[in-house]
Amino acid sequence: MKEVARKARARGRKIGFVPTMGALHEGHMSLVRRVKELCEVTVVSIFVNPLQFGPGEDLERYPRTLSADVDACIAEGVDYVFAPSAEEMEPAGAETRVELPALGSRLEGRSRPGHFTGVATVVLKLLNIVQPHMAAFGQKDAQQCAVVRRLAADLMLDVELLVLPIVRDEHGLALSSRNRWLTEQDRERARLIPRALEAGREVARDGGRQPQAVIDAARAVLEEEPGLEIDYVELVDAESFESVEQLAGEMLLLVAVRLGDIRLIDNTVIRL
Ligand code: PAF
Repeated sequence: MKEVARKARARGRKIGFVPTMGALHEGHMSLVRRVKELCEVTVVSIFVNPLQFGPGEDLERYPRTLSADVDACIAEGVDYVFAPSAEEMEPAGAETRVELPALGSRLEGRSRPGHFTGVATVVLKLLNIVQPHMAAFGQKDAQQCAVVRRLAADLMLDVELLVLPIVRDEHGLALSSRNRWLTEQDRERARLIPRALEAGREVARDGGRQPQAVIDAARAVLEEEPGLEIDYVELVDAESFESVEQLAGEMLLLVAVRLGDIRLIDNTVIRL
């Protein structure tokens, strides 16, 4: 992959990169299409990164659908699929970690300790291997986007980051590789998530309210469904991920819930 990247760069070709863990869906494909419009060489990585899964999380059962993913990439005109093994990405003796002590420990980082260290470490490795001019990420993992932005700025990486909107199904449910595990009943329950975000947005739009009113409105919708266990509902500053004290500027309303043993996240940007 490094050789391919070196040659493409030597020929003055712009490399666009979509890092993924596979089980590709329309959300990933929207990133691929945008990157293809902007770059001459498109690379998709498929790597289920053990470093970003905590003990007891779903690393073992995370969907692995490599040959269907490769077919989907070919159909979309992707030039290279980079699908390394865990041993290649983390050879024996490897120990360097990239840590974001503040941003990486809030929200998702609080619920999934070590998750963003795993993400930041593997993303840096992937960027070093693929050497892209541009890398695309989905807004669904909003905190991951903020982590990668921070990483790129702090370590002075020479890569342009692209964040593209959440792709939703016809009921508003954000596409996710984990959705495939939802039963029909779970899917119906999960539709409350986009409704909760919309309820929060409405309160924010009304104006003159406190951040807690936005959170309460979103929570109230989620609480309609006892089968849906709330991990968090938070309204944060879109860059620092710290709770906001007043409704102003660019904020993110974020939700994480559990449906049985499936954990889903979603978010919406609120600009005032
Ligand atoms: O969003 C993902 O699929 C992963 O977190 C990423 C960015 C590929 C790192 O493993």
